[in-house]
Amino acid sequence: MKGTARQFVFGFICMMIAAAANAQHTVKDNKQEEKIRSLISQMTLPEKVSLLHANSKFYVSAVKRLNIPEWALSDGPHGVRAEINRDNWAYAGWTNDSATCFPPGTALAATWNPRLAYGRGIVLGEEARFRKKDILLGPGINIIRSPLCGRNFEYMSEDPFLISRMAVAYIKALQSKDVAVSVKHWLANNQEEHRDSVDVNMSERALREIYLPGFKASITEGGAYTVMAAYNKFRGDWCSENEYLNRQILRKELGFKGVLMTDWSAAHTTEKAALTGLDLEMGTDKKDYNDWYFANPLIKAVEEGKVPMAVVDEKVANVLRVMMNTKMFDESNREKGKMNTPEHQRAAYNDAAEAAVLLQNNGNLLPLNFTKIKSIAVIGDNATRKHCGGGLSSEIKTLYEITPLDAIQKKFGTTVKINFVQGYEKQSNFKEGSNAGQAGADKLDWKLIDEAVKAAKESEVAIIFAGLNHDFDTESSDKQNMDLPYGQDVLIREVAKANPNTIVVIIAGSPVKLSGIVYRVPAILWSWFGGMEAGNAVADLLSGKVNPSGKLPFTIPVSLDQSPAHALGNFPGRNLKVNYEEDILVGYRWFDTKKIVPQFPFGYGLSYTGFSISNFTADKATYGKTETIHAKCTVKNTGSSYGAEVAQLYVSDPVCSVLRPEKELKAFEKVFLQPGETKTIELDVKVADLAFYDEAKKAWNVEAGDFILQIGNSSRNISKSVKISIK
Ligand code: BGC
Repeated sequence: MKGTARQFVFGFICMMIAAAANAQHTVKDNKQEEKIRSLISQMTLPEKVSLLHANSKFYVSAVKRLNIPEWALSDGPHGVRAEINRDNWAYAGWTNDSATCFPPGTALAATWNPRLAYGRGIVLGEEARFRKKDILLGPGINIIRSPLCGRNFEYMSEDPFLISRMAVAYIKALQSKDVAVSVKHWLANNQEEHRDSVDVNMSERALREIYLPGFKASITEGGAYTVMAAYNKFRGDWCSENEYLNRQILRKELGFKGVLMTDWSAAHTTEKAALTGLDLEMGTDKKDYNDWYFANPLIKAVEEGKVPMAVVDEKVANVLRVMMNTKMFDESNREKGKMNTPEHQRAAYNDAAEAAVLLQNNGNLLPLNFTKIKSIAVIGDNATRKHCGGGLSSEIKTLYEITPLDAIQKKFGTTVKINFVQGYEKQSNFKEGSNAGQAGADKLDWKLIDEAVKAAKESEVAIIFAGLNHDFDTESSDKQNMDLPYGQDVLIREVAKANPNTIVVIIAGSPVKLSGIVYRVPAILWSWFGGMEAGNAVADLLSGKVNPSGKLPFTIPVSLDQSPAHALGNFPGRNLKVNYEEDILVGYRWFDTKKIVPQFPFGYGLSYTGFSISNFTADKATYGKTETIHAKCTVKNTGSSYGAEVAQLYVSDPVCSVLRPEKELKAFEKVFLQPGETKTIELDVKVADLAFYDEAKKAWNVEAGDFILQIGNSSRNISKSVKISIK
């Protein structure tokens, strides 16, 4: 058979297989919908309503008569949270609920490796099932709009494309284990300050281009079964009862057929919430569950004809559909789950190891050759602090947590003298709902600094474990500023004066100000909150057993006022209103368009080896609007150690009827290479994805003309550009 004929036959067979699979799907879906209708037809109104609100902190009632099981929900995005009492927030004291703790969201995004997001989803799904949970409340995918948002560490990025790629992989994997995700927080929960009262306003274009795509991908590509409505208001209406978000966008445009639940205590009304598409009320602060908005008041509203029965049936159908999709009616075929396996711990380690971003490495101080070094000073509270248990709803009772000092001592302590000193003390306190506990946490403790200087002088190398902790990176409050707290700038300065071989390891989940230290120390490694395997990963990164390959998922500004929301003075808003005036220019879109040089750009990260990216081409010069651009480039490891580079494809639209960002990320690929090895990778971009949201036309618009494709390894380091035209 000739090539084209063979291709035709192959194409035809593929089409037939796809059609058969679709047909099977439809038969299964039809059967399921029939079963849902049948169950609903047998239910009384109180039974229906019992499925639409919690009966405790994290459970929803069963309807035993019809074999509808109780629904079990649990936090959170980077590990299954320990069991909480049914009627209060205290731990239930179980002994089988210590879990695997992954590095939080920003760290996952910093790996730029969707395969790791997939692997994490598998582990979370297995552990959730082991704990008999049906819904895991994550991933958190709000856009990192300001360096100060307390929950940045849980979220992923300032870029919607990076978020989408990671979230889709995570969701598909987790749900393959018969557990539903809950993508949160829908929508624009980009600050913790006044999160339960602030009204967010943004242009339709910013909504469509920046704040929606992660959710859209999670639902349409990831197939997310549930979504959690945010605390805040959006354009005047609470997110939990927002006709535009919930009926128009979520249901109509995105075709969402799953469950929309409230965040904990984010329901405000019965009628409006019911009519605008909310399905499930969680966490309301009223002792008697029958008093909740979606309990007796909903029954009453139906009886009085204010909420049609069909609306209640729609919600019950959504609940039953998620239950069936996660095999709750087919327990014998359902995933049984596992907990704390070596593979789970390995996955947590891999994430921590691939997440770390090498920001600076003057004179190739890193990696350290521990077989030659006789002594090191390990300095700083973060050398010994455990972080898995912090952050509030994403806290994890981890099976164990290896600190950096533990790991360094264990791995190198027999041959290297390790001089640990405190360096700085944690002076802050966490107070739920307020950042007052952060105030005044910048006192200099010269006794500790002098001790650190002495240890640094007596050692060949000094490593300062600096950064933040969950008094700062936390749910329920924002940071007051971007500074390194506890006088760390001064500590680092003094230690660096005492020992030129000073390395700073930053442990934090949101941007901090590094301008006071970048010119003082030769090496800076950003290792995030690293989960249960944090110490092992960081020790292996310092020794070169692992080569850093993380890339920043957000821009690190020199100072807060460089950052768009702060430059324009609209964070956290005034009089409980915040207007996103920076519009689509979030993160690097702002820095690059306004030509502001940040401390470290989006997508940036060094390696112990070198890479080149070359031979960047597109398969054609001109494309139609429904076509896909197939771009290619060659990545070469030009150095002498194994490592990984992330090829990042950005697109610019230099002539357009509206302002476009200087560049936008449209594709990326992480490539692992042996020394001297070369790989050619393909990066596909749909022409449709070059569109901007045209407010005049209320539609996506790709204007004909030239576009520039750029390949690089950060938003500020482009190695080659190619011009293409769209006709
Ligand atoms: C958080 C959610 C979390 C829920 C349950 C809320 O305060 O915003 O992200 O899932 O609590 O703990």
